[in-house]
Amino acid sequence: MREYDVIVIGAGAAGLMCAGSVAPYGKSVLVLDHAEKAGKKILISGGGRCNFTNRFAGPADFVSANPHFCKSALARFSAADCIAWVEQHGIRYHEREHGQLFCDDSARQILEMLLAPCRDGGVEIRLNTAVHTVERSDDGYRLTTDKGVYHAAALVVATGGLSIPKMGATALGLKIAESFGLHVIAPVPGLVPFTFTGREKERLNALAGISLPVQVSCRGRSFREAMLFTHRGLSGPAMLQISSYWQPGDALAVDLLPDMDTTRYLDGKREQRPQAQLATVLAELLPRRLVQLLTEDGLGEIRLVQLSDGQRREVEGRLHNWLLKPNGTEGYRTAEVTVGGVDTDELSSKTMECKRMPGLYFIGEVVDVTGHLGGFNFQWAWSSGYAAAMAI
Ligand code: FDA
Repeated sequence: MREYDVIVIGAGAAGLMCAGSVAPYGKSVLVLDHAEKAGKKILISGGGRCNFTNRFAGPADFVSANPHFCKSALARFSAADCIAWVEQHGIRYHEREHGQLFCDDSARQILEMLLAPCRDGGVEIRLNTAVHTVERSDDGYRLTTDKGVYHAAALVVATGGLSIPKMGATALGLKIAESFGLHVIAPVPGLVPFTFTGREKERLNALAGISLPVQVSCRGRSFREAMLFTHRGLSGPAMLQISSYWQPGDALAVDLLPDMDTTRYLDGKREQRPQAQLATVLAELLPRRLVQLLTEDGLGEIRLVQLSDGQRREVEGRLHNWLLKPNGTEGYRTAEVTVGGVDTDELSSKTMECKRMPGLYFIGEVVDVTGHLGGFNFQWAWSSGYAAAMAI
């Protein structure tokens, strides 16, 4: 049996952050991963340019049963700290909309920034290693793997979420938590496109390829971003964002013209062109195929001069409060993240250590803290990994 001060399971964003931050303090650290390569999700993230943080990252950008839990870790390693860290490594980056920061060159630079302190600090990274069992010992945790038995006083679980199983995502972290009697909030796919069935699917199919800015709302949350109609249903940033709040059976309320006073618009058009058909003037605001679908019951053929108050209210309802009821999501196959995970009630928000299991830490996506789209999930990986490292 080989002995270490710290064992980290998972050579992803949070695990490498934690290992690299512990290493300079003279601790022996082992990182185990069943994948053949470290940081695979980092490498494919942000289309290969890694949206490594968000300039405006704050607690409100995270979904969790306890919205306060993430505050302490985010304050100790903030977006500003992340930006300073990236700059120190000479990584050039740029800002896209909503404060999203991406590498100019390659996500590989972020992975290298994580691996460098591991190398310098003598962290052992063992890839292609399957963890069979995790047991508590008198003075720490014992892991049995296909490469041998390892023991450490501190065990950090950084196995990530369940999304993209093809890339090696597993439920090991959640199973470890449950095996020690810790509560897990049922995981569901997040940042994921919606699917539809039957007649609704057929109707939406006719719109595949259309993208437009909308405001989408569900369960008291709203996002103003682009919506994309696909052959399977609805995608685009607006839909991915709201998917982290949606629950089966919920309808999505879509405002197709969030900035428009349509009452004034239609009044103006009625004065200028009383004989124009409703569909014609709406097609000046929205894609024609979408207008056709929204007014397919004959409403579109009505001339503006003939439009009754009731009909106008009806059309405004369709434009500003279009209710769409997905039958589900595309699931973990395409989800960017997992919502749910190890219940934050089990963990110290300062250290990520289990309150009931000294020496056992959970960090990153395996914890019930999920960021919105836009660099927040990596920020959580950095912040939670750093918090655990400083405690160890
Ligand atoms: P992460 O998934 O990074 O690492 C977990 C590690 O544990 C993996 O190396 C895995 O192999 C290992 N592991 C799992 N099961 C194991 C087992 N049984 N035994 C041993 N090892 C095991 N976020 C963001 O902020 N900006 C972005 O640009 C993107 N882009 C993006 C694109 C795509 C396609 C996806 C799928 C996701 C993103 N994300 C993102 C989300 C982001 O990648 C994610 O939230 C973080 O990688 C989470 O970091 P973790 O370290 O917690 O898990």
